[in-house]
Parts: sequence; structure tokens; C-alpha cells
Amino acid sequence: MTDITDIGAEIARRRTFAIISHPDAGKTTLTEKLLLFSGAIQMAGAVKARGEQRRARSDWLKVERERGISVSASVMSFEYGDCAFNLLDTPGHEDFSEDTYRTLTAVDSAIMVIDAAKGIEEQTRKLFEVCRLRDVPIITFVNKMDREARDPLELIDEIEQTLALDVAPVSWPIGMGRTFRGCYDLVDDRMVLMDRGDRSSINDVSFAVSGLDDPTIGDHLPRDQWDELKDQVAMVRELCPAFDLNAYREGHLTPVFFGSALNNFGVRELLEGVARLAPPPRTQPATPRDVEPTEDKVSGFVFKIQANMDLKHRDRIAFVRLCSGHFKRGMRLLPVGSAKAVNVSAPVMFMAQDREIADEAVAGDIIGIPNHGTLRIGDSLTEGEEIRFTGIPSFAPEMLRRIRPDDPMKAKHLGRALEQLAEEGVAAVLKPRISTYFVVGVVGALQFEVLADRIRTEYGIPVMYETVEAYAARWVSGDPAEMKRFSDTNSSALADDHTGRPVFLARNAWHLTRTAEDWPKLKFDKVKNQV
Ligand code: G4P
Repeated sequence: MTDITDIGAEIARRRTFAIISHPDAGKTTLTEKLLLFSGAIQMAGAVKARGEQRRARSDWLKVERERGISVSASVMSFEYGDCAFNLLDTPGHEDFSEDTYRTLTAVDSAIMVIDAAKGIEEQTRKLFEVCRLRDVPIITFVNKMDREARDPLELIDEIEQTLALDVAPVSWPIGMGRTFRGCYDLVDDRMVLMDRGDRSSINDVSFAVSGLDDPTIGDHLPRDQWDELKDQVAMVRELCPAFDLNAYREGHLTPVFFGSALNNFGVRELLEGVARLAPPPRTQPATPRDVEPTEDKVSGFVFKIQANMDLKHRDRIAFVRLCSGHFKRGMRLLPVGSAKAVNVSAPVMFMAQDREIADEAVAGDIIGIPNHGTLRIGDSLTEGEEIRFTGIPSFAPEMLRRIRPDDPMKAKHLGRALEQLAEEGVAAVLKPRISTYFVVGVVGALQFEVLADRIRTEYGIPVMYETVEAYAARWVSGDPAEMKRFSDTNSSALADDHTGRPVFLARNAWHLTRTAEDWPKLKFDKVKNQV
């Protein structure tokens, strides 16, 4: 990055976003094509190749290699036009983890990728709900239009109904599958036609028209397709709301683009859409006061911790989303609540090609701070002021199992390992009040394997899991006297998480509802705010 002189302008050109989707919708392909269009990579295929290289190196995580998927999220920074983009990767695999959720607390907007043949799928819906918690604005990309797809109007309707969101198409597809020709730009009255040639380069034909009756359209489209386009556009204009920037930025409306990432089609429009519409870094909620991105002093929060790939060095990288100020290498930042500042001498930036050392960064940027466990998920970092960023949530685990060491003599060691891994956010670790064993909770089943693998390779403790009669976990809180009464009568269903917060373990759905009804003065939370 060049020397930053105008902080306000730098912040205004930042776009920090994530892509949310169900596995196989095309997130990896789209990521690669965004990098291709931005010039950050030369050839398609680079993202995967790099992924494979990384997997080959990271033998600490066998699961990752064996399954051929990337479990750990990463960050990619690139430039396009006047904007600087930070793309935060959210693992889209079915067994995704809490990291995925937390990553969404560090972005200002998201792209939702939908497979045109499948519509809204389970994982997309879950991730969307997390975005909604913070009103994260969402741009929708309907992918794979080059395949047989569902009727676009039906898709629009499904998004609207399933997600309770206004939907405003900004482009409209011309045909689909083998007859897919491109899109009509509803905002600027342009035709953008697809070239099915070389997929690794950028080719499309785009020209402005005076409207849908412009005769030049006839030079490019057969009569029946032209007529169909006219009918559909008329219908869309009647049925769908027009695009409204405020409604989008408040998270109530999603603009929709159609395309085919594999064919590089619609990607440029999408990227330009993010540049033009998506918000720059915004005010971050914090206590005792919110933080403006343009403030002088540097602040940020840790949203993810990643163990270093190299097992011999036990250092970890804390991913920090900067919220304000002009960060410079060598600064000392204080994790709020701790007495000891961290000297950030070798922060890592994540350029598309490779990691680089960051000299400077501003609000919206992500820096990686290598440390030996001093930084934890949810930590706020400042130049000294006592500000805590709020809204970095933990989600109640959806799957629970008891964990035991193969060797009973290792129980204590296992306890320590679990505590460290819980701090890293790998899994929720719960200590039932009346048992000597720990219960671990995850949001995706793969996390169990990741956890067992790390405990074995990093701490030398082989472990086994056992089923536990627990259907759901909820953080329970309320008036201390009421809490005491509750603890006294329900100790067999109570556990403590690694921070000492009480957790209610319900045996089944009935037990959960019944208990909540019996204790109306207590709160049973599915989401715990870390700070
Ligand atoms: P994901 O990260 O969301 O899981 O999806 P990914 O990009 O890996 O894409 C899933 C599959 O869909 C891939 O095929 C990919 O090539 C294909 N795909 C992505 N975008 C499009 C598109 O616009 N049109 C068509 N027709 N296919 C698309 P695969 O066979 O599973 O993998 P590969 O062998 O092609 O790498």
C-alpha cells in the first residue's frame, strides 16, 4: 500500500465483504473470477491451486486434507477501479463452524450466491440469518444461468418469501441453459451478451440501447427471445420494487444480478455493483460509545484466531478488523481489559497473491497479528481507551458430545487443551456441574473431527467421543437470587462454559420449552454476546 495521506478518502474506498452461499453454488469460482477481473490474479484456477498448496503444507489438520476442503477462512485484498476490496472467506462446507458466523461480524456487506437451479438452500438461509442480526446489506448473485435454471421470476419470489426481503433485480437474464445469451441491464438500459469462448479470459459484448425496442437488439437476438425479454422485463418492472439505495444499505432490500461465474459472465457487473452500492466501513457499535471509522485513534476487534500452520511454533494469528484510525506497523495496541499492550511489529495483510507485511491500514482493513495466545476472540484493541466492541456473538452449539481421553490419566491435560481450544473458538467446551467429563458443542459435525485431530496432534492426547443426553444448549442468565434457585434445583442439567457462564443443557425439545416456561424471569439465550 502506498503512503496514506487522506484517511477519509481511503476509508470511503474500502469495501469489506464476504460471500455467503450453500456448498456448490459457486463461491470458489466466483471468488476466483472476482480476483481475475480485478487483475489480482492472472489466470483462473489460481485460488484452487493455492488452496491445494496450502493443504499440502498444513499436515496438522489432516481432516482438511483428507476431505479436500478448506476448513479455515482467510482474507483476500484486491483493488478494482477506485475501490480497495477486502474479501473475507466464509467456509461454505456443510459442516461449517462458528468461525463462519463470526467472520460475518467483521464485514460491511455480503454477496449471496444462489444456484439458479436450486434457489435458497439451507446453508444460505442460516448465513443470511446471521447477516440479518446486524442488518448487513446483501447483494444477490444468481449463478449458473448457463445451465437449466428455474424461472427467474419464481426465484425472485422465493428469495422474497423465504428471507422476508424486498428484491430488486438490476439485471435480467436473456434465456437460460443452452439458450442463455446474457443480461439486460435494467438500470442503465444496456445489453451485456455472453461470449462462450475462453473461460480464463474476460470477454463479453456490451452496448447501450435506447430501450427494449431499440432495433440494434434485433442484430443480436432472435425475434422470439427478444419478445420474451420484453414481456419479462415489463412484468418485472411492474411486480418488483425499484432499487432503493437506502433500503439496501439498511438490509431491507437486495439487488439481484444474474450470471455465470464459470463463464466469467455477470462478474464485472457484480464487482462494479459492490463498488457502487456496497457501504464503506461504518460506525461500529461499542460500549460506552460507538466508534466512527474516521476517528484518529486506532481501534479494532479480534474476530478469528488461527493456529499457525507450523506445529513447532505455537504462535497464532489473530485476525483483527480495524474500526478506526490510521494503523502503522510497530504500533502498540492494548487488548481492552488487559494490562499489557501488544507490540504489533509484524502484522500480516492478506493480498490475493500472498500474505504481505502490513505497513499501514485503515478502518475496514483486516490485519493478522501473530501472538502466543495473548489475543482472544472478541478482544477489543485500542490505543488505550476503554472501548469494547459489541456484537461479536457466540452461537449456542447445535451438536453436543461428551469427550474423554483414551488414557484416563490424561484427563487434566485434556482439560487444559480444551480450554485453549475453546478460547480459540474451535468448539464450545462445557463442564457439566455433576460430571467429571467435559461436553463439547459444535455447530457442524466436522468440527468434532477437527477438534479430536488437533488435540491428538498438538497436545498428544488421543480422545474419544460419547453420546450425551442433551438436545440443546442455552446460556441462562437473570436475577442472581432466581439464578441460585434455578441452579439448586437443576444442577444435573447445568454446565459452565470456558468463561464460567452457566449453560442449561436441555434433554429434549419439551424439556427446553417447559423449563423456559417454568422460569419466566430467566433468559435462555441461543446467542451470547462475547463482550
Ligand atoms: P462452492 O465454492 O460454492 O462450493 O462452489 P464451486 O465454485 O466449487 O462450484 C461448484 C461447481 O459448480 C463446480 O463444478 C463449478 O465448476 C461449478 N460452477 C460454478 N459456477 C458455475 C457456472 O456459472 N456454471 C456452471 N455450469 N457451473 C458452475 P465441479 O464439477 O464440482 O468442480 P470442477 O471440477 O469444475 O472444479
